[in-house]
Amino acid sequence: MPAWLEIDGGVPLRGQVAVSAAKNAALPALAAALLTSEPVHLENVPALADVATMAGLLETLGASLARDGAGMRVRVERLRSDLAPYELVSTMRASVLVLGPLVARHGSARVALPGGCAIGPRPIDQHLKGLARLGAEIVIENGYVIARASRLKGARITTDLVTVTGTENLMMAAALAEGTTLIENAAREPEVDDLAALLTAMGARIHGAGTTRLEIEGVPELAGATHRIVPDRIEAGTLIVAGAITGGDVTVTGVVPDHVSAVLAKLEECGVGLEVGPTWVRARGPARPQAADVTTSPYPGFPTDMQAQLMTLLGLADGQSRVTETIFENRFMHVAELGRMGARIETDGAIAIVQGVPGYQGAPVMASDLRASAALVLAGLAARGRTTVARVYHLDRGYERLEAKLAALGARIERRA
Ligand code: EPZ
Repeated sequence: MPAWLEIDGGVPLRGQVAVSAAKNAALPALAAALLTSEPVHLENVPALADVATMAGLLETLGASLARDGAGMRVRVERLRSDLAPYELVSTMRASVLVLGPLVARHGSARVALPGGCAIGPRPIDQHLKGLARLGAEIVIENGYVIARASRLKGARITTDLVTVTGTENLMMAAALAEGTTLIENAAREPEVDDLAALLTAMGARIHGAGTTRLEIEGVPELAGATHRIVPDRIEAGTLIVAGAITGGDVTVTGVVPDHVSAVLAKLEECGVGLEVGPTWVRARGPARPQAADVTTSPYPGFPTDMQAQLMTLLGLADGQSRVTETIFENRFMHVAELGRMGARIETDGAIAIVQGVPGYQGAPVMASDLRASAALVLAGLAARGRTTVARVYHLDRGYERLEAKLAALGARIERRA
């Protein structure tokens, strides 16, 4: 049986904890190394399963990677392959981030269509439409995207919806295109902004990062760079909720408070006591949270990646809350498991009605996707009795040593193999 977590709940967490660098910034940053033959030095790459998967994919493409302390040095002197195989892409959808850089630098790419995943079908039509606008020839064959372009040409692209990795793929492709590209309806997530900072350090000419309108003037080639990856705002939010849901007093450090402002606003509405410093957030849990309604939306709105964690807190609130998930089709996988711990949550399509209960009971539960597993850990921390969270490999994809961080705050949590 794969590793699981054993949690004896009911302990108010206390103390300080530092967040790691953002998974969703590290993955595009690694892919960006494909755009140059010179070395890229990322100073603080989190030790995550998804990072290892991306590093493995880059190696098959011809990259040499070396860990140095908390960082990673990546160099793709020459490409050895343009293939991102199904067995890799199917385990991590973010593999699609090699598509834009491969076409831009190498002129061709064969990337397996990512299947669906636990939270929805997750198509990449916007990535492909944008690349086609830049002049790539795209065909779909045997479950693979085959893209070719002698030289990409700048174009005006308006995506039909806000897509984080779609924006990242197109920004990377446009960086080496001939002429200027305009991406309208671009994603504004801090991880997109962080990628733009890395590309700029590599010599790209990008204006409007962090806004819905990106203007990229293509350059003939990009150089190496050194870059510090932005802190993980979702891990920060998860740790803040851990302090709140256990009625504890936790200070999360190494945070960019602006990146969690929607989460903090919602937690304040739930009665969580918050103090915000330049690089830290202190959360004090209320005896019992207040109910609040929440709707997920693209940044700077309430992040879908924090929906399961907030729902877990709302499950203990004094009153009824309404949770509306607008980004993914099936992101309520945590609801059934929370129900087994005593939560009272009814879902109907994209809406969940949460009837707060006074407490959770510990129970054996099973993780299903990355953020749902974080939510189950949070429920276990608050629950009376013992919770075992199975399939913790889901958690390892996006949280660096979460159980160690929580144990350092006083949680009774252990990994069992
Ligand atoms: C990124 O996924 C994140 N992953 C996700 O984090 C995050 O939940 C998501 O953005 C939304 O914030 C990475 O950055 C590696 P999207 P991404 O393209 O880029 C639809 C986590 O837990 N869509 O912004 O795949 C799509 O189906 C992960 O760390 C299309 O229809 O998400 C979804 O419903 C989970 N066609 C919505 O748009 C497309 O071509 C938003 O997807 C692209 C997307």
